[in-house]
Amino acid sequence: MNLFREDLVIFFDDFSLNKISKKCLEITNQAYQVNNGNIPKWSQAIETIDALPKGKISLKKPYISINNDSIDSETLMTELRELIPWRKGPFMINDLVLESEWDGDMKWQRITRHIKPLENKRVLDVGAGNGYFTIRMAMEGAKRALGIEPFLLFNYQFRAIKSMIKSPLNTLLLPLKLEEIPKVPLFDTVFSMGVLYHQRDHMAHLSQLQEMMASDAELVLETLVVEGPEDYVLVPKGRYAQMRNVYSIPSINTLESWLNDANFNNIRVVDVSKTTTAEQRKTSWIGENGASLEDFLDPLDDSLTIEGYPAPTRAIVVCER
Ligand SMILES: C[S@@+](CC[C@H](N)C(=O)[O-])C[C@H]1O[C@@H](n2cnc3c(N)ncnc32)[C@H](O)[C@@H]1O
Repeated sequence: MNLFREDLVIFFDDFSLNKISKKCLEITNQAYQVNNGNIPKWSQAIETIDALPKGKISLKKPYISINNDSIDSETLMTELRELIPWRKGPFMINDLVLESEWDGDMKWQRITRHIKPLENKRVLDVGAGNGYFTIRMAMEGAKRALGIEPFLLFNYQFRAIKSMIKSPLNTLLLPLKLEEIPKVPLFDTVFSMGVLYHQRDHMAHLSQLQEMMASDAELVLETLVVEGPEDYVLVPKGRYAQMRNVYSIPSINTLESWLNDANFNNIRVVDVSKTTTAEQRKTSWIGENGASLEDFLDPLDDSLTIEGYPAPTRAIVVCER
């Protein structure tokens, strides 16, 4: 089964994007060749879904909804369960809901009113997860919405959603890291949401994002922040809210100064929100013993993580190159 080749050819049939298509294809091919014991199970699920009738996509907030009376929704749900855990979503198939751990619509509502319209834009979503937001970008009229996400399961989840849709949107998810994608300034809006704190070198991440941006492009950066003065950065020892690989959580002033140092302009902090258990919650779609935010906070004081750090708060910053 070829998961992406046909989609990739169609997606990159674009005057600008074809400049990076060859390299993207090469890296994608390599990424899918890894030895992962789950691949047969995931591929089987996609094959079954591929053979089912396709539905019409629409938005039934907070759900990305797919409708077709001739789809057997129960069969579909059984196959989608093979791709657990579903962190990002939520989705609705006819009247059945795939309630992901995160209610992605809450973040999207905080973001969309502050950014330039995506209509007819080329958009890059870095660290896209299963592409819930990338699909929302395409549904807002983006000419092309490319998500990049190295974690393979999320690429299978995206493929499952996309193969349920009758006329696929202009969207694609590829298993690439930002470091790997050829650096050509092609995109009108670049998103990095929930990715910066996972980077060992946050300044390298910011400058790589900038290298993907066309001359009048906008960056939408969403990341964890902590209270504190300029220059303050929390560097967790071990885990943060049970997450591994959290390298640095800046104060808002520090984040602004990083963006300034990386030569971004017109830097605006448009939202700061504490993450709630309404947005990140335990659902049956993260697996039997899946843990979520309620387990990551101090049971006696929800202003702290279980490790004693300030509880997760996220800022959204919009700026230009
Ligand atoms: C916390 S999730 C955020 C997903 C989604 N953007 C959101 O806001 O909900 C961060 C994702 O970024 C991906 N990621 C981490 N480092 C990356 C990199 N260097 N390039 C691309 N993706 C990366 C991870 O695999 C992970 O799925």
